[in-house]
Formats: sequence, structure tokens, C-alpha cells
Amino acid sequence: MVSGRAPEIWIGEDGEALAREGVRRIVDAARRAISARGRFVIALAGGNTPRRLYQLLAQIETIDWTRVHVYFSDERMVSHESPDSNYRMASETLLRLVRVPPSQIHPIPTDLPLEDAALRYDQILREALPADEPRLDLALLGMGSDGHTASIFPGSRLLAGVDDDFLLDDPTTGPLSSGVPTASLDSFATERLCAAVHDAPKPPAERVTMTPYMLNLARQVLVLVAGDDKVAAVSAALESDARVAEIPIRAIAPTGGELVWLLDRKAGRALGSPLR
Ligand code: 6PG
Repeated sequence: MVSGRAPEIWIGEDGEALAREGVRRIVDAARRAISARGRFVIALAGGNTPRRLYQLLAQIETIDWTRVHVYFSDERMVSHESPDSNYRMASETLLRLVRVPPSQIHPIPTDLPLEDAALRYDQILREALPADEPRLDLALLGMGSDGHTASIFPGSRLLAGVDDDFLLDDPTTGPLSSGVPTASLDSFATERLCAAVHDAPKPPAERVTMTPYMLNLARQVLVLVAGDDKVAAVSAALESDARVAEIPIRAIAPTGGELVWLLDRKAGRALGSPLR
């Protein structure tokens, strides 16, 4: 029942190297998706880490941007004009600078009440993703120093039951595969693809987030982490057997996809050292 494979871990010198590597992988994923299915479906991450990657990605002319469909892995429930808006950050650094048709950019509707916004985005995802394979080609994620990702924070109800049922590590696939149930398309009709968050410890408290289920359907997940403040969370995520309730990003292990961690040297500096 455990899913996922051991993640690929790439460590670059600094944030610039991380951004460049992220762009290289996104270009490659886009080329493969457009060649195979005529479209590239990506979910953008929020926060600050992806900012430089988006700026570099905006300069890429080898992607057929008219075939790109853009979603968001999470959003703060603020106006899209707010400096806290993930949509605003992505628009300023990337989306206003490339020729993705506006109809193919799907911001989370923050002008609705929280629960309605989550339900509406769930519907948007169901309506717009290909019915036969409603999977993201690529999900970009960041990670907080507490191990949260998207807006899935420690103790989140979205993590309930993940670890309880799958305590055994699968020695063939490494620690991250333990505890993560299979994200099967069979249950797509009944699963939540995104959810409302009322109590995020990282302000603002109200957010909408893609669920672990939705993220684990992705063909590829790229986790972008940089900075000294993430060292402990990176080690806990990749080298401990912490429960997902404590380190939520451990719930991310794409069932039929690739999981790639892109780290700068600062964030990855403790990897491979014995956990204290
Ligand atoms: C958000 C993000 C969040 C972010 C991490 C890392 O909306 O806040 O989705 O999950 O990716 O908190 O943020 P930084 O990249 O700013 O460190």
C-alpha cells in the first residue's frame, strides 16, 4: 500500500543555481507533456523561494506558452492585488511576461468565502483537467521551516490517517514512501482535490490548498528549498521517520510520479549527517 519512490535530491550552490535547475526541469517537463498530450499542466508554488525561478522562467522562449495551463498549489485568502497574494507574485514575476492565454491561468478565487473558494477551486480542477487523466504534469512546492508545504501545516486534518495506517517503512523505497497511501484515480470522484485552511500558523490564517491526494497524483513534484532556516526541516523530511502530522511534506510522494528535491547548499547542509 505504500507508494512513491525514494526522491531524487539535487543540491546546488545557492538560490540562483537552484532557480536555474528548477527552470531546466520545468522546461523538460513541459516539452515532454506537450509532446505527449498537447498541453502542460503546472501548479505554481507560493512564498518567496520560487520568485527567482519564475523570473528566469519568464525569459524562456523554448516553451510553447500557449499550451501551458497554470494552477496554484495554494493561496492565501487575500485580494489578488495584495502583496501577500501568491497569484500576484507569480503574475509579476512570470505570468504577465509570457503568452499563456488568460483562460488557461486559474487563480484560486479569493473573492469568495473561504469554504466556497475551496469548493469552487475543486470544481475548477475537475472541469479543466483531462477527464481521463486528471493529473498535474508538474507541481511546484516550497517548504516552511516547520515542514509544511503548500498550506498543509503540522497537525492539519488533511494529514489525518496517513501515518496511522501505514507505519511500516518500505525498505526498497526509502523513508519518504512510508506512511503515504496510494493516490489512485479510482477515488478521484470522491476525493477532495483542495481544501480550506482556517488556522494556518503562517499568516494569513485563511488559505486554500491543494490536498496531499491532488499533489500525489502529479506526474512530477519539484520541492524547492533554500536557506539556513530550513536545514532541520529538510533533515526531518528526508532522513527521519517523523510522522506526517509533524512534518507534512512527508505526505508528498507522488504515486505514479517523480519526487525531486532541489536544495541550495545551506538547506541541504545537514543531509547525510547523523541526526542529533
Ligand atoms: C505559502 C506557500 C508556502 C511556502 C513555504 C515556504 O503560501 O506560504 O505556499 O507553503 O511555499 O512557506 O515559503 P518561502 O519560500 O517563502 O520560504
